[in-house]
Amino acid sequence: MSDGLESVVAAETVLSEVDGQAGRLVIRGRSLDDLAGRTSFEEVTHLLWDGFFDDLPHNLAAPLGRARAEVFAEVEALDATLQARGPIEAMRALTARLADGDELSVALRLTAAPAVFTAAVTRRQAGRPALPPDPALGHAADILRMTRGAAATPQEAAALDTYLVTVSDHGLNASTFAARVIASTRAGLTSAVLGGISALKGPLHGGAPGPVIEMLDDIGAPDNAEAWLRGALARGDRLMGFGHRVYRVRDPRADALKAAVRRLTEGSNTMPGRLAFAEAVEAAALSILRQHKPDRPLDTNVEFYTALLLEALAFPPPAFTCVFAMGRVSGWIAHAREQLAGGRLIRPQSRYIGPEPRRAA
Ligand code: SDX
Repeated sequence: MSDGLESVVAAETVLSEVDGQAGRLVIRGRSLDDLAGRTSFEEVTHLLWDGFFDDLPHNLAAPLGRARAEVFAEVEALDATLQARGPIEAMRALTARLADGDELSVALRLTAAPAVFTAAVTRRQAGRPALPPDPALGHAADILRMTRGAAATPQEAAALDTYLVTVSDHGLNASTFAARVIASTRAGLTSAVLGGISALKGPLHGGAPGPVIEMLDDIGAPDNAEAWLRGALARGDRLMGFGHRVYRVRDPRADALKAAVRRLTEGSNTMPGRLAFAEAVEAAALSILRQHKPDRPLDTNVEFYTALLLEALAFPPPAFTCVFAMGRVSGWIAHAREQLAGGRLIRPQSRYIGPEPRRAA
């Protein structure tokens, strides 16, 4: 049996290919280089959903804007109990209030949900009122406005778009597989997305970028990096932002996001020196991981520079996984629709290794 289903091909898909040996990501026939920094989240969502909804409009900006305005009504359910939870749990609970179904209207509301609910939760947790969406804005620009209470610059909106596009789909990762399994029972898109959010929350998957910031802040200065990293490994800790189940070389998304951080911070006084410091920590981590696991390539994954980009955009680290969900939700929905279009119920076998029943005396 393959531990963690490693190298098991569990589905055929037209949505994305993750080539772990070549370090290549292709989404619906477009390479990451052709998408990141060149397309909006609305465009990559259209690319992913094309062929899976008969009534898919040519441009998703306005329908997604309307969907943001529609789901905002659910924010009234944000009570003290939910506000006391982490952002991803509160966002998940509000998303659970959305009606289930397989229609495009459900898909649009589910795509709007992580954006609108995370902004509302983080503002309310900071003691500020939730801001209603502005349907006239692009998705990335409105996310930043709803979260920070001020208009985003074009550079900031472009940086967030780059992030959302880069993480929109990534083969059969754990959260997408969870969403596909749930979709295969015909439970509905809301149920599939809730499964995706729940799987993404784990620190081995989408929960890593927040701890990357904690690691950088703990290290504090480049000279401390080697001792801190060696100490972490000696404690049996994993270095957040490194290693991957599929990539045996550098995750191509790391450089796409590092370039976005550079474009956003270069020439501004946003986090002066932060990128250079992170690069020094990354270099030390890669060297130490090579010594630590000489026969297991452990390279930088998507989360390391995700952390720097979301920090530069002033998202609070506890909400980083929610921002990951804002991008990945379009992939979860595409996979759910693909599973519905041609797939059967997903139900693998298991081998029983428990005790045999005792014979009756
Ligand atoms: C994402 O699948 C996807 O596509 C996911 C994703 C997506 O877009 O959906 O790309 C997003 O989830 C990125 C990964 C984010 N997680 C982290 O950065 C957390 C740190 N990384 C690791 O926990 C780990 O690398 C995983 C979980 C990502 C992958 O682990 P695997 O493939 O299950 O490998 P493993 O746990 O069997 O590790 C093999 C060995 C182990 O040593 P031993 O137990 O055999 O002695 O390598 C070690 C691990 O301890 N190892 C690490 C390490 N990653 C693996 N040691 C230190 N630091 C690390 N980061």
